[in-house]
Parts: sequence; C-alpha cells; structure tokens
Amino acid sequence: MSQQTVDNPFFARFWTMLSAHESEAMRRLRRENLAGLHGRVLEVGAGTGTNFEFYPDTVTEVVALEPETRLAPLAERAAAAARIPVTVIESTVETMPATEPFDAVVCSLVLCSVADPDGVLRQLKSVLKPGGELRYFEHIAEGGWRGQVQRVADATIWPRFAGNCHTHRDTERAISGAGFVIATARREAQFPAWVPLPVHEVALGRATKN
Ligand SMILES: C[S@@+](CC[C@H](N)C(=O)[O-])C[C@H]1O[C@@H](n2cnc3c(N)ncnc32)[C@H](O)[C@@H]1O
Repeated sequence: MSQQTVDNPFFARFWTMLSAHESEAMRRLRRENLAGLHGRVLEVGAGTGTNFEFYPDTVTEVVALEPETRLAPLAERAAAAARIPVTVIESTVETMPATEPFDAVVCSLVLCSVADPDGVLRQLKSVLKPGGELRYFEHIAEGGWRGQVQRVADATIWPRFAGNCHTHRDTERAISGAGFVIATARREAQFPAWVPLPVHEVALGRATKN
C-alpha cells in the first residue's frame, strides 16, 4: 500500500532553498505552463507552492497535493497568499481522496519523482473531465553523454538526495502511453549545454483527455 506522506529532510531543505531563489527564466516557464487554465485544477506535488502566484484569474479553485511533511506547511502559507482559492492536501497523488472531476491537472517537476509514472498518469486521466487537460513542465531523458550521466545518476545518488527524482524518464512517451493526446509541446534548456548536471532540458506541454 502507498504511503500518504513522506519525510525527506535533506530534499525538503534543499528544495525550500532552491524554490525561494528561482530565476526569471524559471518563473516565465511556470507562468507559461499555467496560462489559459480555467475552472477547477488539481496540482500534483506542489512543493512550497511556487506555482500558486501564476494561476490566472480564470481558475476558480486549485486542489494542491503535497506529501512532504516539511513542504506542505510552506505550500499552505503560499496558498493563503494566493489570489485564487487553493486548498493544500498533505498526500501523495496515489493516496489522494476521491473528489469531483477536474478541468485540468498540473504536473510541474513531479512526474520524475513518482514511483510509477505510467500508473499515476492513468490515475490523473481518470480524475479529469472529458476534454480536460494535463499541463506538464518536466525534466526529460536526453541522449548522448548527458543521457549516460542521467542513467548513472538515477542508479546511484540522485533519487536518494532529490526526493526520488529520476532524470532519465521519457515522460512525454508515458503521457501518450496513458492515452492523452499531446496538443502542444516544446522543449527548453535550463542551463548552458556544458553544465554537467543530469537535469538540463525541460519539456512543456498541453495534453488532452479526448
Ligand atoms: C521537484 S519538487 C517540485 C515541486 C513543485 N511541483 C514545483 O514545481 O516547484 C517535486 C515535488 O513532488 C512531490 N512528490 C513526490 N512524489 C509525489 C507523489 N507520489 N505524489 C505527489 N507529490 C509527490 C515532492 O514532495 C515534491 O514537492
């Protein structure tokens, strides 16, 4: 049975520090990922709630899941300051309570961290209304030398220190495999190509449940 909450003290501290010092480029990507959303939205793995300020006014409610016991209170604080109503639920997506269907689901930097991305994507499709959309902003698997670095990182220390993040996931293939139709998609490098980090390129897109 899946756990409802998790406690990764190192990751929680690291992510709190990182998300408090985001670049303008990162903020632009977050805004782009949420632009045009409307109605009731589910956000999976909200972290410290960094996305909340970027939801457009056309969103009537955000239900935000965050299982890290040290991050959920920070997400709650961000929710209290948000322009739109946000309810934070301290839970993994796998153990989330049953709710009414959503107009949209937002995954930002989280499909790399769930244990079973294929299963989670099928679950997310099931909680969307027909015609609803998945907005994603995710690290992705790359080829060449960086792909090798990603494989080594995933098999060794990266998931342990980064809250189970796996850098070499073909997330867009998993999204299509779960039955979503990718309507728009693009990629962008987060750092110069020479930076030897396993996380480098992100994919942003909109996928629909037809
Ligand atoms: C890299 S952080 C990204 C946080 C946030 N989405 C953002 O864009 O800043 C990944 C987040 O996913 C959460 N997470 C990991 N596994 C999860 C799961 N099974 N269900 C829901 N959230 C999860 C973590 O607790 C963490 O807050």
